[in-house]
Amino acid sequence: MKQKLTIGLFGFGVVGQGLHDVLKTSPAFDAEIARICVKSKKKRTLPEEMFCYNPDEIINDPQINTIVELIDNANDAYHIVKKALQKGKNVVSANKKMLAENMAEMIQLQKENNVSLLYEASACGSIPVIRNLEEYYDNDLLLSVTGILNGSSNYILSKIFDQNQSYTDALKKAQELGFAESDPSFDVEGFDSLFKLIILTTHSFGTIVNPNNVLTYGISNISDFDIQYAREKGFKIKLVGQVERLKDNKITLFVLPRFVGKDKYIYSVEDEFNGVVVKGRAYDKQFMFGKGAGGHPTGSAVLSDITALAHNYKYEYKKMNFFDEFKYYKDDAIEIYLRYSDEAVLDHFNFNSVSEEYKGPKYNYKIGCIKLSHLIEIKEKLRQLDIFIAATGRSLNY
Ligand SMILES: NC(=O)c1ccc[n+]([C@@H]2O[C@H](COP(=O)([O-])OP(=O)(O)OC[C@H]3O[C@@H](n4cnc5c(N)ncnc54)[C@H](OP(=O)(O)O)[C@@H]3O)[C@@H](O)[C@H]2O)c1
Repeated sequence: MKQKLTIGLFGFGVVGQGLHDVLKTSPAFDAEIARICVKSKKKRTLPEEMFCYNPDEIINDPQINTIVELIDNANDAYHIVKKALQKGKNVVSANKKMLAENMAEMIQLQKENNVSLLYEASACGSIPVIRNLEEYYDNDLLLSVTGILNGSSNYILSKIFDQNQSYTDALKKAQELGFAESDPSFDVEGFDSLFKLIILTTHSFGTIVNPNNVLTYGISNISDFDIQYAREKGFKIKLVGQVERLKDNKITLFVLPRFVGKDKYIYSVEDEFNGVVVKGRAYDKQFMFGKGAGGHPTGSAVLSDITALAHNYKYEYKKMNFFDEFKYYKDDAIEIYLRYSDEAVLDHFNFNSVSEEYKGPKYNYKIGCIKLSHLIEIKEKLRQLDIFIAATGRSLNY
């Protein structure tokens, strides 16, 4: 049975305002925003009496049965969402960092309090990837989920490859257009993609992976040499998150820049768009494409979750509850391109095999296979070295 929702909203920034606008254009939907909790007092586009500054005013309000958490602070979001669930309120959240870092607890809280926490907007904005993984791809056929999960870094790479812009100019433009934050490291170092990948992995294979244990490397060290190398081979470089099923109920996952050829669906995902390829037995590959960020697109995903709550929808975490456990396996080898100048950096890398090598006046590169566990061990170091690494896309089954 459908229930009327009275919403307490946390956050009235890009997504909060987007949700408000989108709700206004859905008059058929029986829900209203009763109160909005924000951080600071300032002039807003809605009457002052709608706003409050103390989360408890919303969480303890018996009239409010639904909490929508759209704030930009993962720590505060954790406390707000936890309290709301413990109070017996259903919650919608878009906070990928908070969810990825606390997934096990969030699932437990839903069980203990018999409530629902939905978070479609947390991964790929308007693309309904989580609910599809949970409901449609709920069988044993799924093999991998591969995607461009971060719009800001994809925008930068598009400008580099399609318009010959430098990394610095493309990043500046992305910041001017609001696609990238003033501190862009969350996006360009791959963390945003990582948190989304952790959430997608939960719904793809039922495995909760600690984000600290996943190889995550971004695009900030890309050089003209890497771009030229990719172009000469007919590739673009994309920042890709992937989780893949291996033999014997194992999975592997990582976030890495990747050389992508014209034959791949994600080759044509440009600018701030996101794209996700779902691969499975019997159906081969399917591709979901759309806007991964922005107030209205993300607000539409939040609205869809709110609508689902009105119909008493909950994630069943089917893969976790009804499948044999998939173990995160780190000992698979992946083939990488390593660009470096100083020979000394090679001491950090244990290549199992090398298939291509080049030494030039300024830059050198090596292409070879290396164990994922080894790259995970040195992942902090990778960001500090004067190198660039990218997956060639050859050694795994994508
Ligand atoms: N932007 C996107 O396109 C996008 C896409 C997908 C997911 N998301 C996720 O959606 C969430 C919101 O992002 P956003 O871009 O809308 O952020 P934003 O524009 O920076 O807005 C953040 C809002 O949160 C409020 N806030 C911060 N800390 C708070 C606290 N402790 N209590 C109450 N309110 C608090 C701020 O209040 P003030 O107004 O007083 O500063 C502001 O209204 C984030 O988790 C983000 O990762 C965003």
